[in-house]
Amino acid sequence: MRLVLLGPPGAGKGTQAQALAALWGIPQVASGDLLRAVVREDTELGREAAGYMERGQLVPDELVLKLVAERLQKKDARGGFILDGFPRNVAQAERLAAGLERVGLKLDKVVAVMLPDEEVVKRISGRRTCENCAAMYHVVFEPPAKAGVCDKCGGALYQREDDAEQTVRERIKVYHAATRPLLDHYGRLGMLAKVDGVGRPDEVEKRILAALDRLAA
Ligand code: AP5
Repeated sequence: MRLVLLGPPGAGKGTQAQALAALWGIPQVASGDLLRAVVREDTELGREAAGYMERGQLVPDELVLKLVAERLQKKDARGGFILDGFPRNVAQAERLAAGLERVGLKLDKVVAVMLPDEEVVKRISGRRTCENCAAMYHVVFEPPAKAGVCDKCGGALYQREDDAEQTVRERIKVYHAATRPLLDHYGRLGMLAKVDGVGRPDEVEKRILAALDRLAA
């Protein structure tokens, strides 16, 4: 399966990508995670990327495309992958399609996880992530057994810097302007299923699996 998960910030793309990756045994490829790894290296490129991310804006396409292309060339992605947060605009989608075509591949399906803007702010403000294994929690909806500690590996949980409310509002604006047009793009190609992101993560996962079955029919 070569799948794209689309949706606004906080819609649950990462949560669902982790669950589906475990179910299917293929990697989750999250452009945000790839960028955060570059930022941690503290190079000039990392500092440049961090500036865009802290403002809630998209990082320039060339850097993101390079990181994603390198990741997709790794051995574990040969049997399929789940793209989470990429592509983010029509130009990235076209470059992705062209890159896959060059190696005789194509995307199979695209799922858009839909969530109203007011829910986005609630979800993001409560998100906590494990600094060690990247497991995700929410202080209200998916709390860890012990506050601030990962259930899976005991790592410390942190809040992302771009999850401040003002930055989240900018990210929502950027989503509507740059990313939402991808729904029409993939809809025209007959590859898109839209799924309601409101509800428990396991309910949303069931909806995604059902929508993927319907797309196949
Ligand atoms: P990125 O890291 O991709 O962030 P995002 O798209 O804004 O998405 P999030 O990670 O915030 O949310 P999510 O949908 O994955 O939700 P999650 O599962 O975490 O991008 C960050 C920045 O990097 C961008 O702003 C940009 O600057 C840059 N960037 C990234 N990709 C780029 C690209 N392709 N091009 C250019 N720039 C790029 O869930 C959120 C919270 O809700 C969690 O706490 C979770 O536990 C909880 N939750 C999840 N599902 C549910 C549920 N069903 N019910 C209740 N709570 C839930």
